[in-house]
Amino acid sequence: AHLVVGVKISHHKLSLVLLDFEGEQLATEECDLSRPVSSPEELAAEIRQAVSRLAGHIGREPGDISGIGIGIAGIVEANDGFVHWSPSLSARNVELGGLLTGMLGVPCFIDNDANLVAVAEHTFGLGRDHSDFLVVTIESGVGLGMVIGGALYRGTRGCGAEFGHTKVQLNGALCRCGQRGCLEAYVADYALLREATLVSGQDAHADPAKRVENLLDAARAGDATARSIVDRAGQIFAMGLANLVNIFDPELIILAGEQMQFDHLYSDAVIDTMRKSIVQVDKAPPEVVVHKWGDLMWARGAAAYALDKVSEMALER
Ligand code: BGC
Ligand code: NA
Ligand code: ZN
Repeated sequence: AHLVVGVKISHHKLSLVLLDFEGEQLATEECDLSRPVSSPEELAAEIRQAVSRLAGHIGREPGDISGIGIGIAGIVEANDGFVHWSPSLSARNVELGGLLTGMLGVPCFIDNDANLVAVAEHTFGLGRDHSDFLVVTIESGVGLGMVIGGALYRGTRGCGAEFGHTKVQLNGALCRCGQRGCLEAYVADYALLREATLVSGQDAHADPAKRVENLLDAARAGDATARSIVDRAGQIFAMGLANLVNIFDPELIILAGEQMQFDHLYSDAVIDTMRKSIVQVDKAPPEVVVHKWGDLMWARGAAAYALDKVSEMALER
């Protein structure tokens, strides 16, 4: 009866995978949320329903599940699941791990979403053969997972690896974290959309993903305003990547994500600016690769994390 679940929380969707204790994937479930969750209670209700459907796919019960790993955007202290801030929760300082464990009656292990993508890359992705690599996630926000010396590095207060909130402009654009001048506020889809209204022919009421697509199309078609918005995002992103290289000197940088288009963040111009901005030595710069994998793979990272924690708990007993 030994099963674990991994959950990725997105704005409008939950993605779940069910693994056995060997790490074998037994079932998956993806469900659209009618509206974004904003409280632990809502989240617990959505997870409870999705988990029982997930277990039902293979004729099992939620009671067969030993642990649930959950990836959420924001500042998370993984050791106790304390969430300082998340764009997915309306309140700050939420003891999400404890609350979900109590409400769902099964141990819940919370970590930052991008950290769990790094776990996924390390366990069964492009980072398998690497001990020092970075995963930059491009979704609604810009995230980072750092594997250093073969282990995930989180920082001491859960707020390490917040690449999206590194500063690129003094008194700059307002970010969703409340501060100004964050990289994310120039690069993420919501940042592009803030300026997209300047581009002619944009339908301000279209769905955000569609509007980002329209903006990128207009840029490709040569619209000068669209081009400058998209190019600037790319150049700021390139400087951010160069800063990461100048600090970490990793073997590999993986750009992961899927939800939104991000080809403009992986253009020749971006890689060129990044290469020119890193400290120059007579060795090749780190490789930058793109890994567009679906939300279910992010959820697998969360499940792999749960598997780890569950075996740790078993050892402690
Ligand atoms: C959050 C990160 C998160 C990233 C991707 C950022 O806004 O601060 O914690 O990993 O978005 O979801
Ligand atoms: Na992170
Ligand atoms: Zn910010």
